[in-house]
Amino acid sequence: MDRATEYFDRQAPDYLAASGRWPWSWLRRAESAAVLGLVGRISGSDVLELGAGAGYYTRALLDCGAGHVWAVDRSPEMLRQMRSDRITTVLGDVADVRVAHQFDAVLAAGVFEFVSSAQQVLANASQHARDGAWLVVLYSVPNVWGRAFRAFHARHDVDIHLYRREQFDAAAAAGGWRAVEAKRCGLFCTAARYRKGPAPA
Ligand SMILES: C[S@@+](CC[C@H](N)C(=O)[O-])C[C@H]1O[C@@H](n2cnc3c(N)ncnc32)[C@H](O)[C@@H]1O
Repeated sequence: MDRATEYFDRQAPDYLAASGRWPWSWLRRAESAAVLGLVGRISGSDVLELGAGAGYYTRALLDCGAGHVWAVDRSPEMLRQMRSDRITTVLGDVADVRVAHQFDAVLAAGVFEFVSSAQQVLANASQHARDGAWLVVLYSVPNVWGRAFRAFHARHDVDIHLYRREQFDAAAAAGGWRAVEAKRCGLFCTAARYRKGPAPA
């Protein structure tokens, strides 16, 4: 098992509770306001969530009206925290997992930091998305706080990746995702929304 998965397996039982404690609670509020603002109302859609963790956004997606969420993660302990008949947990790598379903909506929050190729993950998301589907992402940027976040993960031997917006947008475009909107949020994150397919004429 890789070091990031070992780390998240260890964190899993307390992960959601930790989200409610300062300073994570403050960051969570700022980031989730931006992410969920970009998600909007979902009205019964099936959603693919990549890097779902213990289900913080999975629950929020259901609260926003999602009909069912397929929650993908590499950490079995994280997935074990989720219990709902409206969630299908999928143990797999976001870069190459195959879910036998096509989606109108994809969310990937806080996972790109831990992957070796954001482009591969975005291309895999695209393979699971219908034309016109939306994708909302949350990723960390290389400012002073982002570098502090990287130093925090280096302490448990996990190397993370930070992205400038133009770099992330280019990786998304290579997977067929057109940038629609982006917002800086929290101390070191960008939340962004994309659409699959060409811009309307
Ligand atoms: C920072 S947590 C975020 C979890 C969740 N999205 C949230 O906001 O609470 C990152 C998650 O991504 C998962 N992860 C990291 N790399 C992954 C990969 N290559 N494939 C699947 N999951 C991965 C980890 O196991 C962890 O649960």
